[in-house]
Parts: sequence; structure tokens; C-alpha cells
Amino acid sequence: MRLFTPEAMREADRKAAEMGYPSLLLMEWAGMKAARVYRELFGHRPAVVLAGKGNNGGDGLVLARHLLLEGVAVRVYAAEGQEGDALLARGALEAHGLDLRPLEEAAWGPGEVLVDALFGTGLRGPLEGLYAGLVDRVNASGLPVLSLDLPSGLPFSPHVRATATVAFAALKTPHLLVREACGRLFLAEIGLPRHLLEREDLPEVATPEALLPLLPRRPLTAHKGSVGRVGVLGGFRGEGLRYAGAPVLAALGAYRMGAGLVHLAVPEGTPLEPLEAVFHPVPGPTLPAMRVEALAVGMGGGPWGREWALKALEAQLPTVLDADALHPEVLEAYRRAGVRAVLTPHAGEAGRLLGKSPEEIAQDPLASARALAEATGQAVVLKGNPTVVAEGGRLSVNPTGNPALATGGTGDVLAGAIAALLAAGLAPFEAARLGVYLHGLAGDLLAEEKGVGLLAREVAEALPRAREALAR
Ligand code: APR
Repeated sequence: MRLFTPEAMREADRKAAEMGYPSLLLMEWAGMKAARVYRELFGHRPAVVLAGKGNNGGDGLVLARHLLLEGVAVRVYAAEGQEGDALLARGALEAHGLDLRPLEEAAWGPGEVLVDALFGTGLRGPLEGLYAGLVDRVNASGLPVLSLDLPSGLPFSPHVRATATVAFAALKTPHLLVREACGRLFLAEIGLPRHLLEREDLPEVATPEALLPLLPRRPLTAHKGSVGRVGVLGGFRGEGLRYAGAPVLAALGAYRMGAGLVHLAVPEGTPLEPLEAVFHPVPGPTLPAMRVEALAVGMGGGPWGREWALKALEAQLPTVLDADALHPEVLEAYRRAGVRAVLTPHAGEAGRLLGKSPEEIAQDPLASARALAEATGQAVVLKGNPTVVAEGGRLSVNPTGNPALATGGTGDVLAGAIAALLAAGLAPFEAARLGVYLHGLAGDLLAEEKGVGLLAREVAEALPRAREALAR
């Protein structure tokens, strides 16, 4: 599935029209599908529809007609000046005997549900005046809000904060970059010819269908040496062992993602956990002899991180470079040596590598991930909400995961999990996409059960269930 920019979506609409596909059909399907979501979520609760003058407003007018036909009480406040399809939608609604009221008079009360059909992909700048005021009132109403296509005002501010959003035809960048504003996200097919949605040049939204074929299968003859062995190098000995847990969590992540054997190189004195790992206590950042197919380096590595990553290069193995291993000198050395790596920075680490602030990185995670992938020649996992995976010209946006994952050690688990997939033979970009998706899904399964307060080790432990859920 591809992630559309509003412009790319408008282009697809235009192409469909040029090919002879009537745009009024798209509007009818959009409004009808949105009405279906409304009924699913809100049953027969009375609706207050706020309709702008463009096609998004037209979708709202179609929804109003379908709700009316299903016996839902509907009040519609609409902007003046509809043209084209939206005007036809207005006529169709009025033909049912419904009087539209001016948007200036918009009012609502307890028990009602607001339908936000003010603006969609056609918005060209921040809302002002009447519209900005309306958006503020909608947000302050305390009522459930169903937004059509995009919460009005996005990607700018102010914008509606919806309870649920029905995205038409495809997900658009604001759906994932400003996910908070969208509430529960529904994707509705509206009859747009399929080939117009197949745009290899746009970023991918990772889907179970695309990822399932990547999941390593375990043959009946599998043994621990045949399904992927991982070496984890992390932690450091400074004043004590402050981050001793980080490499241990990476080892757990690797095992729970299916590694056959994990070798764990950690500073002398690190507690002997997990017991399943082959333990290599080291006095300093060295690469102990270990037979593995992939490495994860840097978790909790502190001042040892850079050194450890440079030593690891000798193994010439696909390597996850995390945390303190993400150093310009390291990245340059890997590039020169032609060793494939997956970099797993958060916004702060990516910012340091690109000479930008974490805020600038988070502002446009797609462009940031792409820039870092281009600068280093490696696969990049830019962690955040959403997490973006980039390699060469390819970009993949991850839809799983939730704020409960914002807790110490989940990144270490992810690094180990990706290393396990590299060890199982997946290419860096594929290991990164699949690892990130399953890690987020594990977090989603746990958050459903427990809410916030997760432990990173629980995320590791939920990885097999996430694999199961993907395979189902
Ligand atoms: N402030 C006020 N009005 C604006 C602004 C702005 N900053 N920017 C654009 N407009 C007006 C335009 O002049 C136009 O009348 O908004 C209207 C277009 O808004 P949309 O309905 O979002 O755009 P349109 O292209 O008509 O429809 C796209 O229709 O395909 C459906 O829901 C789908 O999101 C999609 C929408």
C-alpha cells in the first residue's frame, strides 16, 4: 500500500476523470462508505454535519443523505458556493427534503455526533476566521467527531482532533505524520481504478500482506545453528555498569524473534542473563571469537560504542548499528568496507548525524530517513511515531506501535530483533521493515491488555505472538 501526498491523491482523481471515470461516483462511494463507518461507530445517534464548499463537503452531503435514508436524525450546516459534484450532492440531499443551514449558525448539543466534512486534501494553508473558530469549537465540544478523509485543517494548525477518520482510497501523509489528530483510522475503498493507486515512486505503508512472505519459515530439520545466530556487543564499564541491561534486552529481542543462538559480548561483571546466551565477558570493546551470521552493536555502549562498532567491522557481517555505535567515523568505515548495516537512530541520534535538531528531524521523518540512508548508503530505521525505514530510494512507513512503547529498553529489543532477521538471511531493508512492524505489533498487543507501564522485556516476550498474529 502506498502513502499518498494530498497532491498525488488529487492527481489520481484527475487521471480517473480523464479516463472517463465519473468523479460523482467517487463522491457517492466516499459518502456512502463514511456513512457506514458512522453507523458502525455511533448507531442511530443524531448527526451534525459540517460541510465545506469543496468536494470534501460534497462527501459530507452524500453521507448526510445516506444517514437520513437509514433513519438517523441529521442536521447539516454547509458553506455557500458549492460547484460541480458538490453542488449535485447538495441538490440530491435537498431533494430528500432536508434544509441546509449556513455554516455560521453551526450549533450542537449533548448526545450528538459531529461529522467534519469541512476540508480534505484541497486545503492550501492554515485555517483562519470562521473556519479556525469552528475547528476550535468542535475540539472543545467534547462530542465524538468523525472526520471525512482528513481532519479539517491538516497538515496545518488549527486542525480538528477527530475521534475517528475515514480515509478515502488511500492513506495520505498527514494520516501517519499527524496520527494523533485522526483518532481511529478507517481506510475506505471508493472505486478508484486500482492501477492509479499503484505508485512505486511513493513511500510504502507496511502491510501484513507485504510482510508475511518475508517471515522466515522454520523447516522441520531446523537446528540452532541453521536458523540464524546473532552476536550482540554492548554495554560499557565506566563508573559501574550503568547500561548493563541494554545488550541483555537486545539478546532477548534476538531470541524472541527466532534466533537460534545469541552470543553476548558484554563488560566483565555484567549479570549473567539471559542464561540462554553464550556469554563473552570482555575487559574492553573487543570482538570475541563467535560463529554468527549477524551482529547488533552499540546498545548501552557509551564510550565503548564507537570502538566496538569499528572492531565488529572485522567480521564483515550484516550489522545493526544502534545508539553509541551511530558515529560518523563508524558509518564512514562501514561504507568504505562495503559492509551492510541497519542504522537504528531516534530523532536525536539522526539529528546529530545530519547536523539538525531532533525537532527538525521529527518534522519530516520521511525526508530525514531518506537523507540519512542516502548519506550513509545503509538501511535506516528512524524510530518515532511513525517509525520510517529507508534504503536507497525506498521508504516504508510503519503503521504499528503506540506510545506505551516509549519506555527504556524497547529500542534495544528492536535492535536485537532486526539482527535476528538479518541472521536468518533477510536483506537489511526487509529485516528492518519486518522487525519494526512486529516490534510495534507486539507493543500494540500488550497495550491492549495492559495500557501503559510496559517493560521492554515484555515487548521481547510478545514478539512470538506478534509473529503469530501476522501469520494468521
Ligand atoms: N482557507 C479556506 N478555504 C480554503 C483554504 C484555506 N486555507 N484552502 C483551500 N480552501 C478552499 C478552496 O478554495 C476550495 O473551495 O477549500 C476548498 C477545497 O477543499 P477540499 O474540499 O478539501 O478540496 P477539494 O479538492 O474540493 O476536495 C478534496 O474531496 O475527494 C474528496 O474528501 C476527498 O479530501 C478530498 C476532497
